Amino acid sequence: MRRLYSLLCAIVVLLCGCGRRADIHDYSIVPEPSFMVMKDGGYALTGSTSICFTNLEQNNPTVKYVLGSLRQLHLRPNMSGNATTDCMLFTINDTLNSELGDEGYLLEVRSDGIHITANTEAGLFYGYQTLVQMLPDDVSQRRYTRINLPACTILDSPRFAWRGSHLDVSRHFFSIKDVKRHLDIMAAFKLNRFHWHLTDDHGWRIASERYPRLNDVGSWRADRTGVPWDQTQPNTGDERQSYGGYYTKDEIREVVAYAAERHIEVIPEIEIPGHCAEILASYPELGCQGDDTSYQVQVGNYWPPRAILCAGSDSVMQFLFDILDEIIPLFPSQYIHIGGDEALKDNWQRCPRCQARMRQLGLSNVEPLQAWMIDRVAEHLAQHDKTIIGWDEIIDGGATLSATVMAWQNISRGMEAARRGYRVIMSPCEYCYLNFYQGEADYQPPAFPAQITLHHAYSFDPVPLELNSRWAENIIGGQCNLWAEYIETYDQAEYMLLPRLLATAECLWSPRDAKSWPHFRAKLVSQEARLRNLGYHIGSTSQKPIVVYHQADANGNCHVTIDWEREGTEVYYTVLSNQQASDTAYHPEMLRYTKPFSVPSGSTLKAQCHYMGEPVERLYEYHIE
Ligand code: ACM
Ligand code: ZN
Repeated sequence: MRRLYSLLCAIVVLLCGCGRRADIHDYSIVPEPSFMVMKDGGYALTGSTSICFTNLEQNNPTVKYVLGSLRQLHLRPNMSGNATTDCMLFTINDTLNSELGDEGYLLEVRSDGIHITANTEAGLFYGYQTLVQMLPDDVSQRRYTRINLPACTILDSPRFAWRGSHLDVSRHFFSIKDVKRHLDIMAAFKLNRFHWHLTDDHGWRIASERYPRLNDVGSWRADRTGVPWDQTQPNTGDERQSYGGYYTKDEIREVVAYAAERHIEVIPEIEIPGHCAEILASYPELGCQGDDTSYQVQVGNYWPPRAILCAGSDSVMQFLFDILDEIIPLFPSQYIHIGGDEALKDNWQRCPRCQARMRQLGLSNVEPLQAWMIDRVAEHLAQHDKTIIGWDEIIDGGATLSATVMAWQNISRGMEAARRGYRVIMSPCEYCYLNFYQGEADYQPPAFPAQITLHHAYSFDPVPLELNSRWAENIIGGQCNLWAEYIETYDQAEYMLLPRLLATAECLWSPRDAKSWPHFRAKLVSQEARLRNLGYHIGSTSQKPIVVYHQADANGNCHVTIDWEREGTEVYYTVLSNQQASDTAYHPEMLRYTKPFSVPSGSTLKAQCHYMGEPVERLYEYHIE
C-alpha cells in the first residue's frame, strides 16, 4: 500500500503588481473535458491564496512542475500561509476513484478555493493544465492581483490512452530546445506520447559509440537550406556535408527526463528495413550489394527510396541488435518504433543472400521476408521487455501479433490491422499529417502537397463507427505527425502544428459526444491568444468557405450550408445559374450568409470569407449538383 502522508505545503500565491484584476466569465478548455458544469458563485485568486499538496512530497516532480509553472505565470509561490481555506489544493486520492482512472482528475472551483484531486500524478498534472487554461489569456505577460473565477466542477478523463505527437528530426534537425518546446505544447493539450523519428534517409540523429560512422557520415548531408524540398538538386557526393548533427546520449536523457516531468513517454523510432540511405552511406556493407558505395545521406525528394538493409545478411541482424542494445537504456518506454514503411524490396529480389534466406525459410515472396526480419527484432526487444511499433506495412507480410501497428496510409488500414488482432494507433495521413497544407497553397508557405484543414483535422475519429466494438477495443489511440521535408525552422513547425494539434488533442481526449466544431472554433480565440502571449507561432488556418451540400431532393433542389474556420468570420455568397456563371460581365449582389438555403441542382455558388470587415483569400466557386 502506498505510504500515506500529508504534506501541508502552504504557499502563499503572491500576485504582486499594480492592482490588475480579471473577471473570467467562461472557460475555453481544450481538449473539451468529459464533464463540466458551471455553478453559481466563484472564487477569487488573490495574494492571500495559498497552495497545498496532499499525499505528495515537496520535491515530487509534479509539485515542482506546478510551482515552477505558477511562477512563470506570475503567481509567485511563497512558503507560508494557511492552506485550509482560500487555497489551491492538489490531492492524490487515498482511495482510488474509479471514475478518474489513471489520468483523470476532478477540478472544482468553489467559494473556498480550487481543488484538484486525482488518483495519480498524471491526473493532477492534467488538472493543473486545465486550471492554467482557466486563467486570463495574458497571465504569462501580466501580473494580476485578483482573478475572479466562476465556480464549476470538471470531471475529466481521456478517451484514449495513446495520445501521440510525432516529430521528424531527420529531414530537419531540430535542436533540443525546439524539442522541449514541442513537448511543452503537447503537455498543454494533454498529449502523452512523443514519437521521435530519429533516423531516416536524410540523417541519423542519435549518437552511437558502436557504429561511429552513423554519426561521422550518416548524420550529415549537403546543405540545401532555402531551396524548396521538391526543387533540390541531388547531392553530388563531393560537396561539403555540412547540414545536420545528432543528439548526444546526455541530450537524449535530458529530453526523456523533461518529457517525464510532463507525463510524456518518449518513443524512439529507428527505421528499418527501408528509409535507411543514411545507414548505407555510412556502412555500405549492410546493403544487398555490399560494395555499392553510391548511397548518400539524401537531400530533397528521394523517391522511390531504394535503400534497404539486406535481409539475408547475419551482420545486418547483428547491427540491428547492437544498435537497439545501445538505444534501449536511454528510453524507459515499453515501446520502440521500428518503422517498416515504404520499404522498396527490389534489391531483395535480386540479392543472392536475400534469396537464399527466403529459400531457407520457405518464403515465396519478399513481404514475409520483411515480417521475418521484424519478428527477429521484436524477439530481441522482447528479451528486454520492449514491444515494437511498426507502420501499417508490417502487417502485409504478417508480422507478429505482439507488434502494435501505427496506421498511416488510411483509416481502413488501421481497421484491417485491428480486425486481424493487432493493437492499433490511428495516425492516418488523411487526418493526422500536419505537414500537409492547412489551406489553399496560394496563401500558405510551401508544404507537403496535400491538404488537411483545421475543420478536417477536427473530424478525425480514431474509432470509425462501422468498426465492430470487439475490434474497436484494439485501437489504443491516435497521433498527429509532423514530417519535416518542407520545414526549415521550429517557428515553421509551430505554424504547421498550431492550431491543428489542438484539434487532434480534442479528438484523442474528449468523448465523442463532448466534441462540437462551433464550440471548438470559438474556444480557439482565447487558446490562440494564450499561445501568442507565450510566443508561439500559429498557422493562419484555411479561409476558404466550407460549403456542404446534399444530393438534390425530388424537386431538384440541394440543401446548402456554409461554414468557416476562424471565429468571427462572415461569409458572403451568391448563387448563379449556368448562364449567369458564364457571363463575365454579370456581377451579382453578394449576400451575407446567415442560415442554410436551397439552390437548384446545377447552380454555381460563389463565396468568400470576410474577417474583421475585410475580404480574405479569394472568391471561391463551387458547383452544386
Ligand atoms: C509514412 O508516412 N511513410 C509513415
Ligand atoms: Zn540482400
